[in-house]
Amino acid sequence: MVKALIVNSAATGDASVSRKLTQVFADRLKDHDSSAEIIVRDVGIEPLPHLTAETVGAIRGAASTEAERNALSLSNALIGEITDADIIVIGAPMYNFGIPSTLKAWFDHVLRAGVTFRYTSDGPQGLVKGKRALVIETRAGFYSEGPGAVLDTQEPHLRNLLGFMGISDVEFVRAERLALGADAAAAAIDAATARLAELAETELTLAA
Ligand SMILES: Cc1cc2nc3c(=O)[nH]c(=O)nc-3n(C[C@H](O)[C@H](O)[C@H](O)COP(=O)(O)O)c2cc1C
Repeated sequence: MVKALIVNSAATGDASVSRKLTQVFADRLKDHDSSAEIIVRDVGIEPLPHLTAETVGAIRGAASTEAERNALSLSNALIGEITDADIIVIGAPMYNFGIPSTLKAWFDHVLRAGVTFRYTSDGPQGLVKGKRALVIETRAGFYSEGPGAVLDTQEPHLRNLLGFMGISDVEFVRAERLALGADAAAAAIDAATARLAELAETELTLAA
């Protein structure tokens, strides 16, 4: 049985294209394996608290105050969702060429030294092993090539954050040109939907 953790981060609620596309992947996965388990963590609809002076110690394991204990327990729960999953599916809209602050806050809670990565004499080492990730990126404009490519700080950042934890098997699916007319948007969503259906079968095969 394959387990997928979906992390949605769009601020746009039901209108969100990335949220619809993560659901497409979940639905196709279920079509191919009815025993597939899907867990959804929606940090766009229910944002995580930012780390503050009262809570930041928790990500280094401190739990001497109630605020730290709550933050540590939240961080442990979020990391548990990752470690329980075979595939981490991230719905990532491009916000100001990067990722939404809601998604960044999720990474701030799950990237923990000694837990999801560690520093060694040979440099940092990811501790989250045996996972695959699928990142669905939605963008108003076009960044895959040409003059927009240099502005894309979304995909490299996501690759770095996942890779730092040890998740280097990452597939990116982009739905771009969403604000460049109805035809362009429909074509992008159709192409992403088709690719997600293919990937759902591949993931199933790998997990079997
Ligand atoms: C705060 C904000 C910033 C955005 N910045 C960019 C951007 O830098 N480049 C871009 O192509 N689209 C940008 N967009 C547009 C979104 O990427 C696009 O609407 C995408 O579909 C959002 O995903 P969603 O439909 O899941 O909400 C931005 C949207 C918002 C709300």
